[in-house]
Amino acid sequence: MVLVVHSDWSNTLLVGTIMKPYYQDKWVTIYHGDCREILPTLEKVDLVLTSPPYNLGNSVKGSFYGGKGKGERIEYLSHDDDMPYEEYRTWQHDILKLCFILLNDAGAIFYNHKPRITDGIFDDRKDLLPFPIRQEIIWDRCGMVNFSGSFFATNTERLYIIAKEEWKPNKECLGWGEVWRITPETDNPHPAPYPIKLALRVIASATQVGMIVLDPFMGSGTALRASLNLNRRCIGIEIEEKYCEIAAKRCSQSVMELNIDS
Ligand SMILES: C[S@@+](CC[C@H](N)C(=O)[O-])C[C@H]1O[C@@H](n2cnc3c(N)ncnc32)[C@H](O)[C@@H]1O
Repeated sequence: MVLVVHSDWSNTLLVGTIMKPYYQDKWVTIYHGDCREILPTLEKVDLVLTSPPYNLGNSVKGSFYGGKGKGERIEYLSHDDDMPYEEYRTWQHDILKLCFILLNDAGAIFYNHKPRITDGIFDDRKDLLPFPIRQEIIWDRCGMVNFSGSFFATNTERLYIIAKEEWKPNKECLGWGEVWRITPETDNPHPAPYPIKLALRVIASATQVGMIVLDPFMGSGTALRASLNLNRRCIGIEIEEKYCEIAAKRCSQSVMELNIDS
């Protein structure tokens, strides 16, 4: 057993045990386990791109979905998407802080989340972020089923950018603007994947060839697959073994070409 010790901004010591990867090759490392335990053991990375479970089971009465019921809950195989809100917020803060420690000096975190309506009030979820936000990209999903007669359909998600001072997007991507219109993924066995085009855009705009991309809530490995397509190295962490298996399979397939500009 090897212990790794990191010292964070407040001099708290974070200790982790190095785990054997579930899958590893020259470009990809996948860990099967809890990201809270694995993150403190990792080396520095250049980009964190992630979409956590949204805690949709915790939506309350007066919400877009109208409380517990059809359509609001995502059934992950291991994770129960229904934590008390305070617990969920603390969890997300802890993980984002662990990710921030891992960032290189010109690194950034792209954190995907979704606004919700709680007790009839719009909530953009910025309270889940323990750091100032550099910029907010709006992901327009180009359509959405409306579960409520009281609200317009919520057809957008957010990519909140938390960045180290030196980070900036690549020049050739600045013209993409801050509203990205990308249709959701439809061909993926995971219950909540983001589209590969979204991941390709983030990685192409935020990193250079050979850099390292990390997704601590890897799911089916979309961020990893996109990293490989763009010749970036990548690390994924996932608590459910079935999703690790899907991601490892995806990463061992040959590269598909996709147009990320349109
Ligand atoms: C929204 S999904 C990510 C989907 C991914 N972006 C994709 O394209 O497939 C969130 C994932 O986090 C995983 N998860 C939940 N708790 C976790 C934890 N403590 N550590 C690592 N993964 C976790 C869930 O099993 C789920 O697959």
